Amino acid sequence: MNIIILLGPPGAGKGTVSEALTQHGIKHVSTGDMLRKEIRNNTELGLRSHKKISQGIFADDSDVMMMVTDYLLRQKKENFIIFDGFPRTLVQAEKLDQLTQSSDIKIFNVLRLKCPEDVLISRLSGRRICVVCGAVYHDIFSPPNIFGRCDLEGGSLAKRLDDEPVVIKRRLKVYNELTKPLADYYKSKSMLVEIDANCSPKEVREHTLKVYKDLI
Ligand code: AP5
Repeated sequence: MNIIILLGPPGAGKGTVSEALTQHGIKHVSTGDMLRKEIRNNTELGLRSHKKISQGIFADDSDVMMMVTDYLLRQKKENFIIFDGFPRTLVQAEKLDQLTQSSDIKIFNVLRLKCPEDVLISRLSGRRICVVCGAVYHDIFSPPNIFGRCDLEGGSLAKRLDDEPVVIKRRLKVYNELTKPLADYYKSKSMLVEIDANCSPKEVREHTLKVYKDLI
């Protein structure tokens, strides 16, 4: 199995880029979604992570590694998957490297989305999520047809708990301290590909599909 790692700050459009690749048959796996599912299911891991996520800090490396390793080792038929939001710390990156050495899991490449901080803040501040299907909207950049209602499910749209201004600021700080260094880590392994994500969703999708044109 080959993994594409999506690296980028909160609001860079990781979910949006993943959607473009999913339409070409590449499976999307988000550790943020996995953690939110654990929280909804009231598992011990979910209870431990809830407070951290709502405060804008990371879940424990040990919890994330347990969740991810369990997921990866259960996959039998996926050829390619996109990992959105994992690894997010050097510890996670090194553990993933160890896993690649002891299994048939390989890192294909690492796609880094680059975007200035003021743009990230305006994207996250206006994001709305369908409470039924999880579809993502933005008040200004991708509004639904009917205000407050999902185009697909008709479900109501809500703000994510970690999209409050104070929490957004903390998430960006934590990203800069703990995740940004991974760009150099993967660059030194010649695995890093960077794209400009400070453009329209359509252009970001096009840039992404160009990088993976031989796969899709
Ligand atoms: P996670 O859910 O992964 O959140 P994130 O990394 O902060 O990223 P986001 O989902 O907020 O942003 P995105 O880049 O996907 O942007 P999107 O496409 O939605 O993680 C949540 C939390 O879980 C973390 O903070 C952490 O606590 C924990 N966690 C997760 N993984 C972990 C790990 N490995 N280890 C430890 N803890 C972990 O777009 C955002 C908005 O902008 C949308 O409204 C969209 O419509 C709009 N938009 C997107 N692209 C464009 C564009 N090009 N132009 C205009 N608008 C756009």
